[in-house]
Amino acid sequence: MKGSNFLKENNARFLWHPMTSPEDSLTIPPKIITESSGVCIQDVDGHRVVDAVGGLWNVNLGYSCQPIKAAIAAQLDKLPYYSTFRGTTNDVAIELSYELAEFFAEDGVSRAFYTSGGSDSVETALRLARQYHKLRGESGRTKFLSLKKGYHGTHMGGASVNGNANFREAYEPLLPGCFHIPAPYPYRNPFNETDPEQLAQMCIQALVDEINFQGASTIAAFIMEPILGAGGVIVPHESFAPRVQEICNEHGILFITDEVITAYGRTGAWSGARLWGLKPDMMCTAKAITNGYFPFGAVMLGERMVEVFEDNTAAKIGHGYTYSGHPVGAAAALACLAETKRLNVIDNAAARGTQLYKGCLALQKKYSLIGDVRGGRGLMTAMELVSDPDSKTPLDPKTSAVIQDATYRAGAMVRVSGPNLIMSPALVITDNDIDTLLTALDAGFKAA
Ligand SMILES: Cc1ncc(COP(=O)(O)O)c(C=O)c1O
Repeated sequence: MKGSNFLKENNARFLWHPMTSPEDSLTIPPKIITESSGVCIQDVDGHRVVDAVGGLWNVNLGYSCQPIKAAIAAQLDKLPYYSTFRGTTNDVAIELSYELAEFFAEDGVSRAFYTSGGSDSVETALRLARQYHKLRGESGRTKFLSLKKGYHGTHMGGASVNGNANFREAYEPLLPGCFHIPAPYPYRNPFNETDPEQLAQMCIQALVDEINFQGASTIAAFIMEPILGAGGVIVPHESFAPRVQEICNEHGILFITDEVITAYGRTGAWSGARLWGLKPDMMCTAKAITNGYFPFGAVMLGERMVEVFEDNTAAKIGHGYTYSGHPVGAAAALACLAETKRLNVIDNAAARGTQLYKGCLALQKKYSLIGDVRGGRGLMTAMELVSDPDSKTPLDPKTSAVIQDATYRAGAMVRVSGPNLIMSPALVITDNDIDTLLTALDAGFKAA
């Protein structure tokens, strides 16, 4: 490996980073992470911090999960690749499907379609939704509904159902027939409603209104994150998602949960669907399925999908990826699932999530730059930063960067995305680590 001088000199010179401009990466060079262990990462200068980002919402079991590393190494020796396209499969993909069916049985999803990541999983679900309706003779059902503020990856379909202008404008025109409903986001919403339950009702009214306006017979599916993650950890009132599902069912609209973040325990429940008592027609998963150690995803399919696609010779799935069911990914996922269950990470996610959320609320009392604190359901917590709590003017990016950098120097990596400071640490984090994170945040805000 090249030395640190080489790395610093060439940092971002030959690499375009996602979600920023090449110019930004050159003027504010990214931190060069070179090592990790437990829930910590270390940079090229040897500075070690608690990783409150958890990789990117995916390293749920931390960086030292030996059984997953061993499974990947063993699978590379045994069968490093074989495809699952028509006519062939591999042993680990079969075994994983069996295990996933059991893991998600309570959510009513029992079949897996494998992908290489979250955006692929979303694209798969959108495509299969259209095919489902065509197979049933309702080929007019092609539209998609989703929530403003939602994030569904960056493929063309996913970007089209995304509810954040940052991921849309530069790539328009996007897929026609995608319509967005206001998010149940009490801090800012078009109704000026701060009560979460009232707001949930209003958003549901907007959904019903949009369905009536578009015509239910033109709508293929509704997609939502059970807790909106990248949009700034927006936790809907508990009445919201179950009612959305009921409305979808009443109108023959498929209900897709995008659980790329929420599946496998992050919310303190094994899935976002289980958190709210939902039975999705499709559940998009990825990220923590392999603890982030191998790019992999699975779309889990519910009863309605199974009924229409199975025992139907016309139901040829003209969709899939070279790496669908990749044996190394499947082996990683099998080991990850076993560890996730053995460690029963949901309990720690819930307890440490509450600790972090309460700690952030305490910081909000101290620092007026913290306009809103969101979370309280497992280990996904966000602070929305403002220059003034009354006007709710978003904090300027320079000051956000000062906070982020000072927090890092004081011992914790946090993520700043737009006006939000977002935290999603490993689910195996300890109470001491959370204290370290909160102390580092305190130092970060003091520096602003
Ligand atoms: C809810 C959700 N869906 C989809 C994606 C896209 O996943 P990927 O970046 O693996 O393509 C993400 C990524 O953060 C996500 O949070």
